[in-house]
Amino acid sequence: MPFVPLVVNKPFQTLVEEDGTIVILDQTRLPAEVVFQRLSTLDQVVHAIRSMQVRGAPLIGATAAYGVAIGLADKADVLAHIIDTLAATRPTAVNLNWALSRMQSVLAALPTQDRLTAAWQEARAIAAEDATANAAIGQHGIQLLRQIALTNKPVNVMTHCNAGWLATVAHGTALSPIYAAHAAHIPLHVWVSETRPRNQGLLTAWELAQADVPHTLIADNAAGLLLMQGRVDCIIVGADRIAANGDTANKVGTYLKALAANAHGVPFYVAAPLSTIDFDCANGAAIPIEQRAAAEIGAGNTPVANPAFDVTPAALISGIITQRGITLPAALHTLRS
Ligand code: MRU
Repeated sequence: MPFVPLVVNKPFQTLVEEDGTIVILDQTRLPAEVVFQRLSTLDQVVHAIRSMQVRGAPLIGATAAYGVAIGLADKADVLAHIIDTLAATRPTAVNLNWALSRMQSVLAALPTQDRLTAAWQEARAIAAEDATANAAIGQHGIQLLRQIALTNKPVNVMTHCNAGWLATVAHGTALSPIYAAHAAHIPLHVWVSETRPRNQGLLTAWELAQADVPHTLIADNAAGLLLMQGRVDCIIVGADRIAANGDTANKVGTYLKALAANAHGVPFYVAAPLSTIDFDCANGAAIPIEQRAAAEIGAGNTPVANPAFDVTPAALISGIITQRGITLPAALHTLRS
């Protein structure tokens, strides 16, 4: 039975820690239903990530970090097994590996009996830092929207997939500047791309409706026409992995939007926390692309290819918005700490 707390007592949050468990907002049930699930075993955390009950690169990372703590409570001596099991859930979002490496380096240095408490502490820190980073992305990204608003009102922003608060611990990445601008009374309208085959655009539409941000849902293939007609001032998308040279993996369909934006002189921005940058990955060709089930496309016996992500070359990206500011892809190395 799903755990369903009263929404008034537990406002819409993607992930909440509670008594040695976590409670997640089940994104496979949205936007039709708001259902929370309690995860109290490693298997449940693995299932939640793999089945996309939790999804979006930063949220996958934070959930996996809590998954380590939950796994340790069960089997305190098998840290490596817990980390390997979580790492195998989804391949493209580097935040998963980033969070697990961080947990590994903190915990492996400790005696077994101290690991459980430290795991909860580190998972909490990862979650809190994600919320802080995404709020800062909003404050940097708002400058771009403010600039456009000097000449174009409302500012027409296009996005793809869901890179809002649902995809993170809080605030979102691509939607964070939009929420910041809306709060600052900058007139806005968001073109929300449906994002086949899993329709994460409906999650974005749901989020924007909660926040009263004007928006319009479009079929993915309508984006080119809107860009050609001058009805888009900028595109902001999230990222699942940004290579050292700025090539960026995001939900499949992102690359086509970047190409069309480039053809029509529309700026194309990527918003992501530093945890999404993989400095060990030289370029986009080295980014692993998740291949998902044929059933998501649902073509009976027809052979199906279902890559879940694509790679937008750095040359098509106007800027990468992180918690440190807006950086040209060619200058990404300056963010390496
Ligand atoms: O397969 P998903 O739904 O996890 O993919 C999500 C995306 O591609 C998002 O755009 C990306 O993770 C950025 S999340 C802030």
